[in-house]
Amino acid sequence: MTSTTLALHELHDGGGVPLVLLHGFPFDHRMWTPLANHLPPGIRALAVDLPGAGQSPLGGMPPSLEAAAAAVHRTLVAAGVANGILVGMSMGGYVALALAELHPGFVDGLAMVDTKSTADSEEARTRRLKTADEVEANQTVDAVMGMPASLLGATSLQRRRLLVTTLEAWVRGQSPAGVAWAQRAMADRPDRTHVLRQLDGPVSIVVGAEDLVTPLADAEHMAGAARDAALTVVPGAGHASPVEDPTAVAAALSLLHRRVVRHH
Ligand code: MLT
Repeated sequence: MTSTTLALHELHDGGGVPLVLLHGFPFDHRMWTPLANHLPPGIRALAVDLPGAGQSPLGGMPPSLEAAAAAVHRTLVAAGVANGILVGMSMGGYVALALAELHPGFVDGLAMVDTKSTADSEEARTRRLKTADEVEANQTVDAVMGMPASLLGATSLQRRRLLVTTLEAWVRGQSPAGVAWAQRAMADRPDRTHVLRQLDGPVSIVVGAEDLVTPLADAEHMAGAARDAALTVVPGAGHASPVEDPTAVAAALSLLHRRVVRHH
């Protein structure tokens, strides 16, 4: 067990229970900036760079989402944050579930955004490990540079073409070691649907209607498992709904925040 802490970014001022924003792969906290600009006043939002992404070190951590979750928790506690609403986009959702399993008392609410609670298929796992080896061997992130175009929905590719360039710049800024680490960590994750079943607190499931990576069926599976779930389908968005339609996703998170406050 390492004692590495991660880079934490205050993206929106406010009091009370904060939103803890966990980014997808292969991005960092910057993917939440457009959404944070659409949050209503008073909701505090913090974004973490996951291990090896953005400004966060790997610090000798083994490639595992449990290690990532422990590091996120350690970082927040060190910053005086004892509880929060976890918001995980894709890989961030996998980390959020691992954190909820490790520290259920930390989690006042949970948003699972363009993600799923199940494990990889054997085929997906093999693909990830191959990408990890390739990125490491070549010492470039070229092997994942095609991701932005495949994550965005058809509508964004047509009408928000500039997003491809923005997302590509975010990916280009990642380190090969961090990308390889994340792929191996994700390949290793178990099914965590049971965490949703056990979670006491409001859950929000958000999915882009054009998400082909974690499609509506995955979202419905999670919504069916959680005790108190609300499902939001974002029209005209794909697997990166927080950047494709930040207004719609911010509205869903603001609603979740109100449900959490009522639940307390
Ligand atoms: C992500 O957006 O974080 C990735 O698509 C997650 C994954 O590869 O499963």
